[in-house]
Amino acid sequence: MKPFTFDTAHSIVFGAGVSGRIGELALQRLCGPASGEAASDGANARVLLVTDQGVVAAHLLDPALRSLRAAGLATEVFDGVVADPPEAVVLAAVAQARAMRATAVIGFGGGSPMDTAKLVALLARTGAALGDIYGVGKAVGPRLPLMLVPTTAGTGSEVTPVAVVTTGAREKQGVVSPLLLPDVALLDPELTYGLPHHVTAATGVDAMVHAIEAHESLNPNNNPLSRLLAREALRLLGDGIRSAVREGTHPEARCQMMLGAMLAGQAFANSPVAAVHALAYPVGAHFHVAHGLSNALVLPHVLRFNCETDGGAYAGVAPALFPFLAGTPASRRGLALADALAHLIEEIGLPTRLRDVAAGNGNRAGREVLPGLARDAMKQTRLLVNNPRPLSEADALGIYEAAW
Ligand SMILES: [Fe+2]
Repeated sequence: MKPFTFDTAHSIVFGAGVSGRIGELALQRLCGPASGEAASDGANARVLLVTDQGVVAAHLLDPALRSLRAAGLATEVFDGVVADPPEAVVLAAVAQARAMRATAVIGFGGGSPMDTAKLVALLARTGAALGDIYGVGKAVGPRLPLMLVPTTAGTGSEVTPVAVVTTGAREKQGVVSPLLLPDVALLDPELTYGLPHHVTAATGVDAMVHAIEAHESLNPNNNPLSRLLAREALRLLGDGIRSAVREGTHPEARCQMMLGAMLAGQAFANSPVAAVHALAYPVGAHFHVAHGLSNALVLPHVLRFNCETDGGAYAGVAPALFPFLAGTPASRRGLALADALAHLIEEIGLPTRLRDVAAGNGNRAGREVLPGLARDAMKQTRLLVNNPRPLSEADALGIYEAAW
């Protein structure tokens, strides 16, 4: 067995309605001696809650704020996070944290508020400049005590050591450090009850891709824990996604999706994703579609490409997501997985062809854009090296053509 490392959140709290007890949990775990902030207790604790206006408008914060204030924690809200947060947003949140002399940070929302909160906890404590910590392992601690509370079931950001910031018109930079893993990941499936069905569907497919790519990743740190978590994630996500899309308040399905997305996050945080994500990023950037949908559009086609040279690819992971594939010979299971995923994506109501998003949503692109997408995909070298099969620009173009 190869050596490996596995990092995740210090503590995970899971349960329907648990965000209504966030004050008590924050007091215990972010303000006590266990947080490493011995001087901080409820009496002088000051919490900055980092979120976005969508979360506020959906009233998801109300029980949490009541709970924090009932626990005696002075709490301020920064609700200025936007999707793909630019540096200015991160710096504004850091400024608010410094001005209030925050002793703890809570990120509450989808991937963007959680990523912003990770950076606020670090920068408000150390005074480091954001520009100095981009890259792998550049961040230096300590950071403020940090809790992350997801309101979608997809990104897994609550258990990943990564924060992504938009630095130019389209340029993104990432901070990667175990310091960004929170003290507490608090998962309350009830926070996802009001998500529109297309968001549930797209974020759910994103989580599936995290698990599938983590399981098959060529990354040297691909490890038995990640593969175990990936298979359990796929079992939960596959079992829950149809019910969660059809009936947003389905308690069991929402629990399955939220836990499945987190397990997939733990898997890929330690065994990184590959060509599906590499080819999805240019789709998102060009057509302004959500990350999960970008993944769904290229997913079956990347899997088919990978199966061309290795008939046994995905044989171990496919039956976790679709138990009926256990009866398919291992040599044909990968292709059967791609077909079953294409069917599932259609069944849960997502667009299935690139041309569907290229010609809608304010876009009027034709297939002449595909070579540009292929060129951009090749820039994702950090992800492409993890793909089970080497992939050239011509291969990327072929996959986009198939997806068109
Ligand atoms: Fe993703």
